[in-house]
Amino acid sequence: MEAPGVSGGSFSLRRFFSMLKTEKLGRDIFYYHRASSTNLVLKHMARAGVVDEGAVVLAETQTMGRGRLDREWFSPPGGLWFSVLLRTRRPDSLIPHAAGVAVVLSIRKMGLESVIKWPNDVLVGGKKLAGILTEVGDWGVVVGIGINANVDTAAFPPDVRERSTTLLEITCVPVDREKLLADVLLELEKEYNLLVGGGEEGKERLLEKWIALTDTIGRYVVVLTPMGEVRGRAVAIDPSGALVVETPDGGIKKVAVGDCLYLR
Ligand code: BTN
Repeated sequence: MEAPGVSGGSFSLRRFFSMLKTEKLGRDIFYYHRASSTNLVLKHMARAGVVDEGAVVLAETQTMGRGRLDREWFSPPGGLWFSVLLRTRRPDSLIPHAAGVAVVLSIRKMGLESVIKWPNDVLVGGKKLAGILTEVGDWGVVVGIGINANVDTAAFPPDVRERSTTLLEITCVPVDREKLLADVLLELEKEYNLLVGGGEEGKERLLEKWIALTDTIGRYVVVLTPMGEVRGRAVAIDPSGALVVETPDGGIKKVAVGDCLYLR
């Protein structure tokens, strides 16, 4: 019998490897039925020096799943909760953007119209399908990605259910999580290589892709930042990935961290 909230059975590493086309990402994968947080586990491993570039930690459920701005991230069975280690010496502020592009391209490959909402939320039909939490240390960068894949929305608390969606809810059939993970890792590897190996031109190309996939630019927004609210029209992102907002008095503000709400 399936566990509540899960659909489609447990993850098959054999099927995953049969579909993985990356050079590095995901070649070394650590699979847990239950983990505290895949980011936490991978950070410990990276700090201890027992894993290398591309290592992935994947968990069926997380007991302490974490989101941006220190929020809790609900991680019931059926989701795709994983973290990837990038051992770059020069962490780039655009790595989360590379991950956002990778997730949206992979979801679009499934025929679903997904978009990025600044900074890197992945939405379908205006509801959140996936989130990205990037953490940096002297050991490298851990990119944590949570995709609400085969999750029954009943598994979410009411407030999360209201603003979130899942692939199961959208497609009404369990999706192939092994294929989805293999796709996301391949797209992430491409974007990451562009970022670290493509110089200024590579960064520009990544930003162009991000802009083509977002529905934030041009919107009237309120951005809740640790320093207060910024209201206005989102007009661009700058080369560091910060959101550029034109305020009602005609001024320009750049926001690096925060939560973006659409006003209309
Ligand atoms: C967000 O707030 O939108 C980011 C959510 C990131 C969730 C993922 S799930 C895998 C990884 N492990 C965590 O604890 N968080 C990230």
